[in-house]
Amino acid sequence: MKIGVIGPGRVGTGLARLLSDRGFAVSAVAGRSAVHAQALAADVPDCKATTAQSAADICDLVFITTPDDAITSVAGAIAWSRGQGVVHCSGALPAAVLASVTRYGALPGAFHPLQTLPDAQAAFENLPGSFIAIEAEAPLEERLVAIADALGCRWGHVPPEARPAYHAAAVLVSNYTVALTHAGVDLWRALGKTDEEALHALAPLLQGAVTNLRRLGPVAALTGPAARGDWATVEKNLAAIAATAPQHTFTYAAMALAMIYNNLASPTGDAAPGTDAAVGKDSAVGRDSAGGKEAIERELRSLLEASLRNRGAL
Ligand SMILES: NC(=O)c1ccc[n+]([C@@H]2O[C@H](COP(=O)([O-])OP(=O)(O)OC[C@H]3O[C@@H](n4cnc5c(N)ncnc54)[C@H](OP(=O)(O)O)[C@@H]3O)[C@@H](O)[C@H]2O)c1
Repeated sequence: MKIGVIGPGRVGTGLARLLSDRGFAVSAVAGRSAVHAQALAADVPDCKATTAQSAADICDLVFITTPDDAITSVAGAIAWSRGQGVVHCSGALPAAVLASVTRYGALPGAFHPLQTLPDAQAAFENLPGSFIAIEAEAPLEERLVAIADALGCRWGHVPPEARPAYHAAAVLVSNYTVALTHAGVDLWRALGKTDEEALHALAPLLQGAVTNLRRLGPVAALTGPAARGDWATVEKNLAAIAATAPQHTFTYAAMALAMIYNNLASPTGDAAPGTDAAVGKDSAVGRDSAGGKEAIERELRSLLEASLRNRGAL
């Protein structure tokens, strides 16, 4: 089976290298410009940089790894062959965005790696062990399952109508975790630390959270002042952010409010004896536990509104 890749970006490059490494014949690669396609072809044995149509002419299975917005138009501009597999790697889109290929008797499919791939190396290193959402009909489905198995991935079906929610979960868990870490690094920078020092300290914390999540699940793994009902500590965090990295007030307030609204914050607001909420008599919100939670909720809402107003969003 000859495999082609149209879109030699992060996923296309990583997937092509990994497939080749696992013994698949990646025979053709095409891009918008020749430069990235040539760079990828030079890296993969017996692979040539070509046009998208030539890649389709040569290959039995073609992965379209362009940005989501280009998938349908790229596929629609090619004359496909009967029985050929045409597969995109988007998490948010169903295989049906490739419906035009069925005019030629080609088989549309989706093969979404549930992994964050900021560069080709990450794709090469992190894809094995990842989950792949496969959507295709036989016989393409068997081919994609065999590829997922050969890459060392787990795979499963995600119905087309469920794909946007499935993708939203991936964005929340992966992209927003990185964005939150970015905010944490900014706070360390405001303390005079380098980004490297910050990441050196914060990455094991993130790693610990992941380990706990796997062992305990998302409810029992949750720690921190809002989960404990340490509202005076939340108040101190907010004051520190306002003084050092105020651009992240919105993020902190939004996350704290999300925890309250999703019942992930302490339901009673009771803080353990000796914690800030229990001893924080000088705090605006730490005077008593129940009042603390209500006061902090009001404050978080007004901070969010103020942030939105400052950005002209209100
Ligand atoms: N990155 C991730 O974390 C990740 C994870 C899972 C799934 N995905 C999915 O994988 C797909 C690719 O994402 P990516 O992050 O790899 O994107 P990317 O790095 O931006 O790469 C996109 C590639 O598509 C090429 N391209 C753009 N328009 C084209 C066109 N009209 N014709 C031919 N080639 C075109 C670009 O070519 P040039 O290089 O020539 O400009 C580029 O190489 C998307 O569907 C995305 O949803 C991404």
